[in-house]
Amino acid sequence: MGNTVVIGAQWGDEGKAKIIDILAEDVDFIVRFHGGCNAGHTVVYNDKTYKFHLVPSGILYDNKICFLGNGVVIYPELFEQEIKDLRAQDVNLSNLKISPLATLTMPYHIDIDGLSEKSLKTSKIGTTKKGIGPTYSDKIARTALKVQDLFDFETLSHRLDDILPLKNSILKNVYDSKTYSKEEILDVCDRYRKILEPYVCFDWQNLIIEFKNKKILFEGAQGVMLDVDWGTYPYVTSSNAVPGYAACGSGFAVSQIKNVIGVYKAYVTRVGEGPFVTELFDEDGEKIQQIGNEFGTTTGRKRRTGWFDAVCAKYTALVGGITQIALTKLDVFDNFEKIKIAIAYLDTRNGEIYKDYPTNTFIHKYLEPVYETCDGWLAKTSDIKKYEDLPENAKKYINRISELLNIPVSFVSVGPDRNQTIFM
Ligand code: GDP
Ligand code: IMO
Ligand code: MG
Repeated sequence: MGNTVVIGAQWGDEGKAKIIDILAEDVDFIVRFHGGCNAGHTVVYNDKTYKFHLVPSGILYDNKICFLGNGVVIYPELFEQEIKDLRAQDVNLSNLKISPLATLTMPYHIDIDGLSEKSLKTSKIGTTKKGIGPTYSDKIARTALKVQDLFDFETLSHRLDDILPLKNSILKNVYDSKTYSKEEILDVCDRYRKILEPYVCFDWQNLIIEFKNKKILFEGAQGVMLDVDWGTYPYVTSSNAVPGYAACGSGFAVSQIKNVIGVYKAYVTRVGEGPFVTELFDEDGEKIQQIGNEFGTTTGRKRRTGWFDAVCAKYTALVGGITQIALTKLDVFDNFEKIKIAIAYLDTRNGEIYKDYPTNTFIHKYLEPVYETCDGWLAKTSDIKKYEDLPENAKKYINRISELLNIPVSFVSVGPDRNQTIFM
């Protein structure tokens, strides 16, 4: 079976949810395989805006299974809120399922996320403060709780005897902060169990067997430049956003994955700290931010903006094995006379030109983009449904990106709505 993974190919917020919502119509099963409620995914359909953090963006179709895989981290407090918000919008959640092997974000993870950011002197990450780093750290250190532990009191109690003193010692001795009693955490766990119980799928092995020959869509969060291995480390999230993790974080086999759709914005945005070579600090940057309405879906922070970076884009296509491009937010450039694409970086220290992405991100502060300039199209694209009807300069821009990456563009998005999409 040839299934598809959809990943962000920049620093997140590329419009993945919109593409997933469109593709979900033709699949049976949608699975989130990594990340947590640091994600903010927006789908606009029938004049309604839906915001997802953990729930897969395929949930708007009644007859699809939406699964939160083992690779995901779940903070039940925010999950409960998300469920409430979606219910208030009449979203049917009866097909939502959670892997018992997903990892739990606990209140002390949220505390440590904030405290650790505060204590960093030279390299604050600008996290979403959703406990993501501390939760994944505990997972790797083998000191995390899994969803299934909530349903086995003996295990839970024993695990907390080991884990809680460690966490309290960090809270007290490193940060001089509030600690937690075992009783307090057991009460929290009791509440978390009640929140998650209706969705936990203990029979997940049979679910995988039932769906392995059907159509599966793997939903990525964040973006390759935020991947903990491949991104601008340490200014990254704490999970793997590359498609390689789709099998690991879901329970399906690698051999079941064929296509990788990389979602790229027609420009670049980034929330939080970290290098961003094509970042704009001028009127063009401001214009992109305003027209693109670039505010973080999860934190409301203003997104940093910059021109399309083909050096980064080629790199994420390489390490992500991207086979098709979805190019979003083309309409944001409708009123731009000139649009730039970075095709290389210049090292201002020695004049060296980099055509390939330099992975030592600490030197990025010395790099300047080498741009080529494209003519804008100065026409409205948001009502256009067919590629042939796009202005010539818009076609040239799309084709130039495809040429630079040597990957076909399969979708062009010209507005937030499900219907504002051109299928190539
Ligand atoms: P995700 O995290 O990758 O799913 O993206 P977000 O939902 O965080 O951010 C993308 C934003 O752009 C959302 O507000 C979308 O509704 C909006 N959007 C998606 N595609 C387009 C597009 O083609 N044009 C415009 N103007 N907005 C879009
Ligand atoms: P979606 O799925 C944009 C960024 C944060 C911060 C860094 C680490 O909507 O594209 P974390 O809380 O994960 O430890 O923060 O990663 N970040 C995102 N930026 N979109 C996201 O998700 C993000 N998830 C995390 O801003 O810079
Ligand atoms: Mg987002």
